[in-house]
Amino acid sequence: MCGIVGYIGNTNATPILINALKKLEYRGYDSAGIAVLDKEDIVVRKCKGMIKSLEAKIADEVISGTMGIGHTRWATHGEPSDVNSHPQTNVSGTIAVVHNGIIENYAEIKSWLQNQGVVFRSETDTEVIAHLLNYHYEKTQKDIFKAVLKTLNHLEGSYALGVLCKDFPDRIIVARKDSPLVVGLGNGENFMGSDVPALLEHTREVHFLNDHEVAVLYRDRIDLFTDKGEKLIRKPFHVDWDIAAAEKNGYEHFMMKEIHEQPKALLDTFKLWNEIDLKDSWKDVQRIVITACGTAYHAGVVGKYAFEQFTRIPVEVDVASEYRYRNPVCSKNDAFIVISQSGETADTLAAVRLAKSHGSRILAITNCVGSTLSREADEVIYTRAGPEIAVASTKAFTTQLMCMYMLALKTAEIRGTMSKTELEKNLTELATISEKAQEIVDNKETIQKFAARQFNKNKVFFMGRLYDYAVSLESALKLKEIAYTHSESFAAGELKHGPIALVDNSTLVVAIATQKKLYEKLASNIKEVATRGASTLAITTDHSGLFDNTVDETFVIPETFDAFSPMLSVIPAQLFAYYCSIQRGNNPDKPRNLAKSVTVE
Ligand code: G6P
Repeated sequence: MCGIVGYIGNTNATPILINALKKLEYRGYDSAGIAVLDKEDIVVRKCKGMIKSLEAKIADEVISGTMGIGHTRWATHGEPSDVNSHPQTNVSGTIAVVHNGIIENYAEIKSWLQNQGVVFRSETDTEVIAHLLNYHYEKTQKDIFKAVLKTLNHLEGSYALGVLCKDFPDRIIVARKDSPLVVGLGNGENFMGSDVPALLEHTREVHFLNDHEVAVLYRDRIDLFTDKGEKLIRKPFHVDWDIAAAEKNGYEHFMMKEIHEQPKALLDTFKLWNEIDLKDSWKDVQRIVITACGTAYHAGVVGKYAFEQFTRIPVEVDVASEYRYRNPVCSKNDAFIVISQSGETADTLAAVRLAKSHGSRILAITNCVGSTLSREADEVIYTRAGPEIAVASTKAFTTQLMCMYMLALKTAEIRGTMSKTELEKNLTELATISEKAQEIVDNKETIQKFAARQFNKNKVFFMGRLYDYAVSLESALKLKEIAYTHSESFAAGELKHGPIALVDNSTLVVAIATQKKLYEKLASNIKEVATRGASTLAITTDHSGLFDNTVDETFVIPETFDAFSPMLSVIPAQLFAYYCSIQRGNNPDKPRNLAKSVTVE
């Protein structure tokens, strides 16, 4: 989950590389580095810490080359340190490499190279690539392109690679397998990066590389090849994102900006209703399997409830990392819905490939056009969230929910499990969600004040029933991710089966209470924890004051249909996590040990 960038042109490469890396810092930020071909030599500067540490390190230097590669790291092999940072080079420093992914057979290659006399400097898997390139470079009479192809042939695992060679001042070579990589076409200059925001300032014309493809970036063109060296001809893809959407726009953090963007993102996604055109085969689906990771998995849990409620089709939902290894029962009559903001999560992609190999049809819900998932799925619905930069997902989640509801309603429509009038009622309600979300965001100070009083709690439990249980899962995850608070979620009915033993006066219990027929049951659960000393908050759609006497505080959200409440009730929980994170002095956009896009297992 690192980010790689590259530039070849006629202006100073260093600031371009640094700026591009900043756009990818969400992918990893424990160390950073660049390699620039300056006159005759490759200058490598790298260090542990965020990109600003790298900037400080080179502040007084003049590095004036016009081509280079860069890296922002999320450590897998070897702790974050200066020496383990990328770029990694061959012994003589004439070939430099940046890499995102994991080389699974690196130990084997390393011992082979050590037997050849190569002395390793770092603990990274990437360093083997640099030395292997060197080996093949010598064997191919110093043909760097051939050396790259030969090296790729030996690598197992995942990689997005950028290679710079001192003897070839006219080209940068990049390659991809199971890690995202995009190259961008400029005018007399060309770019590469792990993700579109790294390029957007300079170009909107891009090629998304597929697995087993290689690109050679010259100043005046980009040539595409297979990793067997066969030339490929492809038209570039035009990216129509608004550049401001990838900037902070005056907010202190991307996460706050993205929370505020939810009303618009929800409305934009809802407008897709008429465009969703399910294949006829959906009429015969006998079972739906949903898989995803992290927050997207929680959208899947909500999706299960919604699909079963609206369509009566049985639904199974599983985290992708479990699904791929548990020898699941798959069938041609299954519809496989996969949810992924990035469309690049390694476990999610592996689950897709497994289901595909059993003949299941794949419908993807993703936020990233051109992502691997979007290319491998049979059908794709794009959430209209716009770029999500903060590591903790907010607007991607609520728009994934909107997609799941629309998908469930469409399926109900084509299978005739819902009357026209019912369908209309549901759509009319969905159309109001955006303004209701706005009301919640406008009332954020109430949550801010609550967080100011509660951020020091060392245990926070979220509980709910049905749809509220799904929101509890997501709420607890948000708090773990960015406030580093020990938080758990429980189906409220499970409280007495164990969790209540943990409750004492250092505990905060947040009850999500939006399922009307279960209000009273939840009120009883709240009493049970309050009697044992817990502080309590209810996030509820009840406007009658039902919870006022049982909880310390209530946060009332606009009413909606029970099924649709997750799109609203999660927003106060996102805000709560955000404000707790700030109170604790954390950076909510870049939580420790996490990365936005988990492209390794
Ligand atoms: C990481 C991110 C989460 C995200 C999960 C799945 O853990 O930090 O925010 O939910 O990956 O990502 P995806 O891109 O597949 O939705």
